[in-house]
Amino acid sequence: MTESTFGRAGKEVVIEEFMEGEELSVFALSDGTNSCLMLPSQDHKRIGVGDTGPNTGGMGAYAPISIATDALLEQVQDQIIQPTLWALTKDDSKFRGLLYAGIMITDSGPKVVEFNCRFGDPETQVVLPLLDSSLLDPMIEIANGASISGFKLDWSEKAGVTTVLASAGYPGDYAKGLPIQIPENFTADPEALIFHAGTSMSSSGLVTSGGRVLATTAIADTLSAASLKSLELSESIQFQGKQFRKDIGWRELSRSNTALP
Ligand code: GLY
Repeated sequence: MTESTFGRAGKEVVIEEFMEGEELSVFALSDGTNSCLMLPSQDHKRIGVGDTGPNTGGMGAYAPISIATDALLEQVQDQIIQPTLWALTKDDSKFRGLLYAGIMITDSGPKVVEFNCRFGDPETQVVLPLLDSSLLDPMIEIANGASISGFKLDWSEKAGVTTVLASAGYPGDYAKGLPIQIPENFTADPEALIFHAGTSMSSSGLVTSGGRVLATTAIADTLSAASLKSLELSESIQFQGKQFRKDIGWRELSRSNTALP
């Protein structure tokens, strides 16, 4: 059955353990031997409020996450990232660059959901604005084959929320070419950012050209304030059928008994 549906790819079926828990996105810079973890973030993969409905490429992300304690991150680094780098080196596939581990925090500890050799989207839109030190410095060291042993990144004490603005119908079929209006005054706030994803420039101006169209990132002293600012920025942008989640960061807010804006 799987072969008739999936062709040769269906010849082998892998049955994996169903993991329950909260997912973290952990980016690790690696020189092939040593790793330096970046600030963990949490993606919201489902289209609907409260993590309901079909999966998407990611509808929003926030950081920092209180359950990503130093002890947990040490465990992720020692038991997942470092053994992976050693195994790749042993396999003659030494990995230098950015390793993205999707980690499930289960009752029996952190477990790997997936690895990617790239930054995550939309997690990067919230993680990098919280980076106070240079990203270029370690990247240059890594690109030059130098060591990042003992390297530390500096992170802001603030919180960030990224909200993805998607086309009507996404993650199913959606229209393209719809005009987008972005308020001009948003640039007055250096802690309010808009990232383009599925947009293009037409002769009449900016238009939609993808499922996930834009992402708004807001940085503030608290997650609740960042959430409100991201929401306001998302509401101020206009295109026909715009849909976005108004509950990005809801798990963290409910951990601190803080209501959504
Ligand atoms: N946020 C999921 C990904 O980048 O794969």
